[in-house]
Amino acid sequence: MLRIGMLTSGGDCQALNATMRGVVKGIFNERNDVEIYGFQAGYKGLIYSDFKMMTSRDFSGILTVGGTILGTSRQPFKKMRDPDENGLDKVEAMKHTYHKLSLDCLVVLGGNGTHKTANMLSEEGLNVITLPKTIDNDLWGTDMTFGFQSAVDIATDTIDKIHTTATSHSRVFIVEIMGHRVGWVTLHAGIAGGADIILIPEIPYDVDVLTDMINKRAKEGKRFTIIAVAEGAISKKDAKLSKKEMKKKLEKERNIYPSVAYEVAARLQKKTSQEVRITVPGHTQRGGTPCPYDRVLSTRLGAFAAQMILNGEYGYMAAIRDGETVKVPLSEVAGKLKYVDPHSRIVQEARQVGISFGDK
Ligand code: F6P
Repeated sequence: MLRIGMLTSGGDCQALNATMRGVVKGIFNERNDVEIYGFQAGYKGLIYSDFKMMTSRDFSGILTVGGTILGTSRQPFKKMRDPDENGLDKVEAMKHTYHKLSLDCLVVLGGNGTHKTANMLSEEGLNVITLPKTIDNDLWGTDMTFGFQSAVDIATDTIDKIHTTATSHSRVFIVEIMGHRVGWVTLHAGIAGGADIILIPEIPYDVDVLTDMINKRAKEGKRFTIIAVAEGAISKKDAKLSKKEMKKKLEKERNIYPSVAYEVAARLQKKTSQEVRITVPGHTQRGGTPCPYDRVLSTRLGAFAAQMILNGEYGYMAAIRDGETVKVPLSEVAGKLKYVDPHSRIVQEARQVGISFGDK
């Protein structure tokens, strides 16, 4: 008998179900003596032994269904070692659940924080296999995470729709796109949607550069400017602040600016005569059905993870590099972010077609 525990952790995305389906179909294709324990709401389910027994049937018909049939939650890694409100040692509780159910392995679908905990559990002696989920595409060790392309599609669609209304008005439109620490979704959706300015955390901006660009466009007879701004975009001035100073600034401004788009808008509004409008697609970027690219990626990663499980190869993340599925040791993935390189070809090529990153 092969006993597999499975959980989805962190923020959801469109292709979680598609990926779990890939894993389960891949395993049942080779053997039937399999029990699947679906832990509810991420690591919480493992900590509190909240699971349901699942069959291969539960994973049928979910290729196109967004969200996660297991539910998810954010369980910050840095608090994993802190006892819960009843004094429970969460790490020991997870190990206890795993051993109590005599699991052969734990399959974990998640992003950065999730991988830190997965690596810790692997170091604690559990057999762990992970799959790279996040719309942010910021997981080190894989060229692509599932969810990313679906989010790019949605964010691009938002910019496309803004374009049609923008052509009717002389306005500056700011579209705020998800990504607190990295700008992958903003970069790709910005290019795909034909944004004039792209602001990402990896390339701090100068508000005067933005103003000059908007004024230059107006002089050239262009009626509007579209700015794609990542949630974590930061000005050159703020980039110089220490962590403590930045925290203080954010606390002070929390009631003034609900998010970065409002801050950029307020700053621009003072410097340009054009009206500024803001659109925040927010969690729609994680919603709906996975795009075909993600369905293929999820199916491939799921099938590859199934092979690892059937071979008894644990302690790895199933990843995709240069178009091929590969296994990456969890110890290499945990705690590392994959940032947009400001000097990368994609950034250079975006600049080549006249897109400004607000820095020069
Ligand atoms: O990590 C995925 C993500 O969607 C980020 O892009 C975004 O900053 C964050 O999650 C939002 O988190 P929450 O759903 O907890 O508000």
